[in-house]
Amino acid sequence: TIKGRAFPDGFLWGGAVAAHQLEGGYNEGGKGISTADIMTLGTNEQPREITDGVVPDKYYPNHQAIDFYHRYPEDIKLFAEMGFKCFRTSIAWTRIFPNGDEDEPNEAGLQFYDDLFDECLKYGIQPVVTLAHFEMPYHLVKQYGGWRNRKLIQFYLKFAKACFERYHNKVTYWMTFNEINNQTNFESDGAMLTDSGIIHQPGENRERWMYQAAHYELVASAMAVRLGHEINADFQIGCMIAMCPIYPLTAAPADVLFAQRAMQTRFYFADVHCNGYYPQWLQNRFETEHFNLDITDEDLQILQAGTVDYIGFSYYMSFTVKDTGKLVYNEEHDLVKNPYLKASDWGWQVDPIGLRYAMNWFTDRYHLPLFIVENGLGAIDEKTADNQIHDDYRIDYLTNHLRQIKLAVLEDGVDLIGYTPWGCIDLVAASTGQMSKRYGFIYVDENDDGSGSLKRYKKDSFAWYQHVITTNGAEI
Ligand code: BG6
Repeated sequence: TIKGRAFPDGFLWGGAVAAHQLEGGYNEGGKGISTADIMTLGTNEQPREITDGVVPDKYYPNHQAIDFYHRYPEDIKLFAEMGFKCFRTSIAWTRIFPNGDEDEPNEAGLQFYDDLFDECLKYGIQPVVTLAHFEMPYHLVKQYGGWRNRKLIQFYLKFAKACFERYHNKVTYWMTFNEINNQTNFESDGAMLTDSGIIHQPGENRERWMYQAAHYELVASAMAVRLGHEINADFQIGCMIAMCPIYPLTAAPADVLFAQRAMQTRFYFADVHCNGYYPQWLQNRFETEHFNLDITDEDLQILQAGTVDYIGFSYYMSFTVKDTGKLVYNEEHDLVKNPYLKASDWGWQVDPIGLRYAMNWFTDRYHLPLFIVENGLGAIDEKTADNQIHDDYRIDYLTNHLRQIKLAVLEDGVDLIGYTPWGCIDLVAASTGQMSKRYGFIYVDENDDGSGSLKRYKKDSFAWYQHVITTNGAEI
């Protein structure tokens, strides 16, 4: 039994957010317009509109977000009260390089993160930093076509270097690209914009451009890993993968084979990050499809020399597929419902056991430490007249996942650095732009249209998580 046994000493309990989803202050301190700043409010059924720059009279939820830019001391204090050992956030690229192609970084932006990280360190909370989290400069999209363009590698490295040098004694754990593998679904406009800054024209070969953009990102990531280690040999620089294990619907061998190919497709990004080379099946596909990608010999050496130190990953759900008759995975069309699982209000299939499965899968395949940098339940919360939020469904979700994590760590021997549940304070949802899709331990009084007092309230899960951390997970 695992009850009564604690997590390993030094385990990094914390919470996770991303700059564009909570900071607001979208045009303050010299910040430029990012891809997140041109996305309107959507719903699960109605995708967020991607506008051509900031258009008057449209509502952009990320512009204000939850105003963390001005309120962070109050919020960090609450994280400290929960006992956080670490806090994962991203550095908004557009605060440091507003357009992305300037020669010099913006001092006001650098200073903001100095102040934010100092505020964390004051309480013994170490910042864990994602460099690119769905918020690249919009100028790079307009002017250069986003990551279709090899020039982006140099722009990204300039940004990475500015951050590594400035925060070299404040940050140890870094991640290069958030959920780089969302673009596996290259038919999604949202995934292509947020991962790669690509706005497609009709008739383009989207799959080819996805592989090209991702290649430049993987090269940029490998170069950043090397650069970071030169700046500080103690840096731990990881990738960040959206982990949704993909199961076969039945034991029919064709279903099992198809599920394997789906996993190979969705996780080749991790293969390149961790192994330093492309898997052979994919090289063959590049050939047979005549993608004619710009992948040079020098690139291949760079990939080999810049493998990551650990695997950061998010986990919300698992996927299921069945054979389609051709061994090519198309994420937009090939997912089927898993009859054994229930889904959240947003249709995300809840699967705690899948997390233990995923942790074992990663470990067997790459033999690297893992860091669960996102996990959680997006749900509608009700605030009562006396300002209580009884989110027992969230406590259940997290408890069930933590039990599986604990089994993976204590029984299977998985090497896990830490656990940072997503949206530890309510924030703007990435997929829909909604405030009503809440993940937090801390409730923010704000509606989808941005109205509300922005006041913070502790949910029931606040005390629950505080207790988990105090007891180092022993009672889970
Ligand atoms: C991941 C992202 O996709 O999941 C986060 O890294 C995102 O940015 C989170 O917020 C949850 O998704 P959503 O759409 O519910 O906010």
